[in-house]
Amino acid sequence: MTILDMMSISTQIPEFYRQATEEELISRIKEAKLKLGMKVMIPGHHYQREEVIQFADVTGDSLQLAQVAAANKEAEYIVFCGVHFMAETADILTTSEQKVILPDMRAGCSMADMADDKQTKIAWEVLTTLLGEDILPLTYVNSTAAIKSFVGYHGGATVTSSNAKKMVSWALQERKRILFLPDQHLGRNTAYDLGVPLEKMAVWDPIKEELQYEGDLEEVVVILWKGHCSVHENFTVQNIQSVRENHPKMKIIVHPECRWEVVNQSDVSGSTKKIIETIEAAEDGSEWAIGTEMNLVKRLIKNHPTKHIISLNPNMCPCLTMNRIDLPHLAWAMDSILNKEPIHLIEVNEKDKYYARLALERMLARA
Ligand code: 13P
Ligand code: SF4
Repeated sequence: MTILDMMSISTQIPEFYRQATEEELISRIKEAKLKLGMKVMIPGHHYQREEVIQFADVTGDSLQLAQVAAANKEAEYIVFCGVHFMAETADILTTSEQKVILPDMRAGCSMADMADDKQTKIAWEVLTTLLGEDILPLTYVNSTAAIKSFVGYHGGATVTSSNAKKMVSWALQERKRILFLPDQHLGRNTAYDLGVPLEKMAVWDPIKEELQYEGDLEEVVVILWKGHCSVHENFTVQNIQSVRENHPKMKIIVHPECRWEVVNQSDVSGSTKKIIETIEAAEDGSEWAIGTEMNLVKRLIKNHPTKHIISLNPNMCPCLTMNRIDLPHLAWAMDSILNKEPIHLIEVNEKDKYYARLALERMLARA
C-alpha cells in the first residue's frame, strides 16, 4: 500500500484530539493503558517522537520489534508506534486473534513505496531471462507485505540493518546471484563489506525497467534495486569533510541506509540499536557526529550530556512519516480500543501473509 493509498483510507482525527492539551492527552493515554493492562502492547521504534516513546512498552530497531511481535502471544492489541511496514510485519508474525493498529495511517515509508508488486514481477522476468534462474531475492524489511511475499515465494528472506551481513552472506552461499530490494544503499554497503567489489554490482531501475551495468553480465553477483531512504540520502561526503575539518577529534557513526561514499568515509556504521549501544559505551568527553534520523539524534544528545554529540548534517529534519505518530493519534487509538471500535487496523491479506511469513521466518531463524 503506497502513502497515497494510506492517505485515502485514513480517517480524519476527531476535533477533540486536535484541541486537547498535552496534559489531557497524556492522562487519557495513561488511563487507557491502566485499564487495558496486558491486553495492549505498544512497541516504539527508536525514530519515534519523545512524546510517544514515553508510552512504549518496548523500544527497539526493526529486528528487535519484529522479534517482540513474534514472541508476544498475550496482547490482544498491538498499537504500533512506527511506520506502516513495521505494523504489517507485526500483523504477519502475530496470531490471527491479535490485532495490530497503526495510530496514523499516513505513517508510511517512502523507501518501501519504491518497489511495488507489478514492478517486482517485471524485474524478475527480465533478470531471470538475462542472467538465468540462479538468483535469490532478499528484501529489506522496509518493504510492503506484497514484496516480502514475492521474496518468500521465491525462496528468499527479509533482512534488517542489524542482520544484513549475515543474511547476504547466507544468500550468496545459496545462489550465484542476489537481488536486493528496495534499498540500494544497504545492499551495496553490505555486499561491499562482505568483499563483493562494486564492479560486480548492477542496479535495476524499476522506472526505466532496465539493468544498469557496464561490463560482462556474467560478472554480476549483486543486483541492487534502485530505491533509497530520502532521510538518509541527506547525509553527504561534504558533511563528513566539514566535521573532519571543524572537529578533528570527532568520530562519525552513520546508519547503513546512507550512501556508500558516506558509509565508507565514516568511522562506524550500523542499525539504530548499534548506534545507541556505541554512544552508550563511549567514554565521557568523547565526540560524535551521527548520521541518522533526527528524533533519535536529539534523544542521544539529551541522554548523554557528558558526551559531545551533533547531527552529521546540521540541517537535518526528522523522518516526516515516523513523526506522524503523535500524542493526539496515540490517544485516539487507545480510546478506540477502550470503546471497542478499534481504528486503523492493519490486516495483510492471507496469501501475502503466508509467503511474507516464510521470508520473515527465514530471517528470524538466522537472526
Ligand atoms: P533500524 O532497523 O536500524 O532501526 O532501521 C530502521 C529504519 O530504517 C526505519 O527507517
Ligand atoms: Fe522510511 Fe527512511 Fe523514514 Fe526509515 S527513515 S521510515 S527508511 S523514510
